[in-house]
Amino acid sequence: MELKNVTIIGGGVLGTQIGLMCAYVGKDVTFWLRSESSVGRTTPKLERYGELMITDLLTAKALIGSPMGKFVYPKGLIRDWEAATPECIDDLVAKAKERFADNIHIELDLAKALADADVVIEAMAEDPKAKVSIYTDMKDLMPEKTVLLTNSSTLLPSMFAEYTGRPEKYLALHFANTIWKNNTAEVMGHPGTDPKIYDETVKFADEINMIPLQLHKEQPGYILNSMLVPFLSSAQALLATGVADFETIDKTWELATGAPAGPFKILDIVGLETAYNINQMKPDAAAEGSVSNLIGKLLKEKIEKGETGVNAGKGFYDYKK
Ligand SMILES: NC(=O)c1ccc[n+]([C@@H]2O[C@H](COP(=O)([O-])OP(=O)(O)OC[C@H]3O[C@@H](n4cnc5c(N)ncnc54)[C@H](O)[C@@H]3O)[C@@H](O)[C@H]2O)c1
Repeated sequence: MELKNVTIIGGGVLGTQIGLMCAYVGKDVTFWLRSESSVGRTTPKLERYGELMITDLLTAKALIGSPMGKFVYPKGLIRDWEAATPECIDDLVAKAKERFADNIHIELDLAKALADADVVIEAMAEDPKAKVSIYTDMKDLMPEKTVLLTNSSTLLPSMFAEYTGRPEKYLALHFANTIWKNNTAEVMGHPGTDPKIYDETVKFADEINMIPLQLHKEQPGYILNSMLVPFLSSAQALLATGVADFETIDKTWELATGAPAGPFKILDIVGLETAYNINQMKPDAAAEGSVSNLIGKLLKEKIEKGETGVNAGKGFYDYKK
């Protein structure tokens, strides 16, 4: 059975991107938002990300035939880059505009938003209490057929399964920011997830142009952040303890591994506020003199100066130049 009717809970950064991506491939998308003021915040995000997707498609036309094209084309928007022509990209743009206008609906009534949902994607704030509350409210409003997915980055599905009323149909599908370019989708069940539903979710991820990355068991941080967070922490420790400056640390990584960006370039993209929040969760972050404490101070100083990363124009590196 195709998972055609998609309901998105939460119209923030990720929710709007996921909804647009689903509409782009022809799914019927309903956003449930809790108030008129949420509608006022979500609508401009839908417009902005929709425009960015279309701009990236148009930019991709100029990349056809370029050796760099295959590295930088928007992978979630063009399934077969080798076969792409300017004409087929024009068709994709026309279809995207039509589907963004026709296939996306906003609903304030939760019962109506869920009434015919094949799949619900919960992309609400990372607040366990709010997630329990919405799952409890949704439990009796979803039809039998609904598969319930969470996009949570740091919380495990097993923490919430009992509140969903359908633990066997509940699992995580974890997207990355700017999903039309970084089209990974980590698929992670909990011990009670039905393997058939897991497989249906893998298929759904592929249908919405994501690359499904399958986890065989629950893992905090999934695959990516299980590697990325310790890597970035080690780099920050080298800087905070005075072993080397950030440019030398990046250069070492880039030259020795061939990676295009070292840890401090990655930190600038992630944003220093996020890096600071992650650091402050470490048990020794408050202990004066500990490495985590030194890292916290270093990041805080930069955040207070407004140097929070690429989005601010300056982080470790200056992007205004
Ligand atoms: N931002 C990222 O890079 C990223 C990447 C992958 C996964 N995620 C995950 O996606 C989820 C959403 O993150 P985001 O970055 O889109 O957050 P966000 O803050 O941009 O959006 C959160 C949305 O939830 C809504 N919301 C908050 N509390 C609510 C409540 N009590 N009832 C109803 N709606 C409520 C907000 O109005 C907003 O629309 C989180 O679980 C996060 O871990 C985020």
